[in-house]
Amino acid sequence: MKKLLCPSMMCADFGSLENEVRALEEAGVDIFHIDIMDGIYVPNFAMGLQDFELIRGKTSKLVDVHLMIKNPGEYIDLFADKGANIIYFHPETDFHPARLIDRIRTKGVNPGIALNPGTSVATVEPLLELVDYVLVMTVNPGFAGQKYLDFVNGKIEILCELKKKQNLQFKLMVDGAISPEKILELSAVGVDGFVLGTSALFGKGESYKKIIEKLRAL
Ligand code: DX5
Ligand code: ZN
Repeated sequence: MKKLLCPSMMCADFGSLENEVRALEEAGVDIFHIDIMDGIYVPNFAMGLQDFELIRGKTSKLVDVHLMIKNPGEYIDLFADKGANIIYFHPETDFHPARLIDRIRTKGVNPGIALNPGTSVATVEPLLELVDYVLVMTVNPGFAGQKYLDFVNGKIEILCELKKKQNLQFKLMVDGAISPEKILELSAVGVDGFVLGTSALFGKGESYKKIIEKLRAL
């Protein structure tokens, strides 16, 4: 199964975002990962709507939107109408996540749920058959450059088990402090996709093409 490599664009060089998108596309990445934060649900701001629109307009690759915001339901139409292919939200931020998943799908967008390190699989199990992606946060959401949280590994294994046992179709993705070593380790467990930030891709002093080639070969 081909690993999905997803550059976390909040880590890109905003001085030349268009060139960054082009270079990453040429490097053969799979999904551009756009972190949207409101400073309330997470204590930080990341990318804005214009950043999303620029990236969307410059690539034919998939573009996801990771909504780390309160009341995500109010913004589904906005991002769907502007061309998001995947929308992740944190189930705790909506009273009726199953209904929001359905709304996202009705807009022709692939729905995903993002699980905070402290969120158990049990609390979201009914949603697993409804979504196309499950994004497991391996850091506390909101900031790049953090340390990987080992206690999340158990949850990743449970999700891989459930996928197999119940023949669930969601893609299992991880987001946060994903290094090449983590890609190797978690691919073996059954993780399908990796959000790549400062731990594996950006600020490495090497071309994205070279780095992506190496990550593909892991
Ligand atoms: C975390 C962000 C990610 C990621 C960045 O909220 O969603 O973008 O952590 O990558 P690292 O952790 O490798 O800098
Ligand atoms: Zn993210």
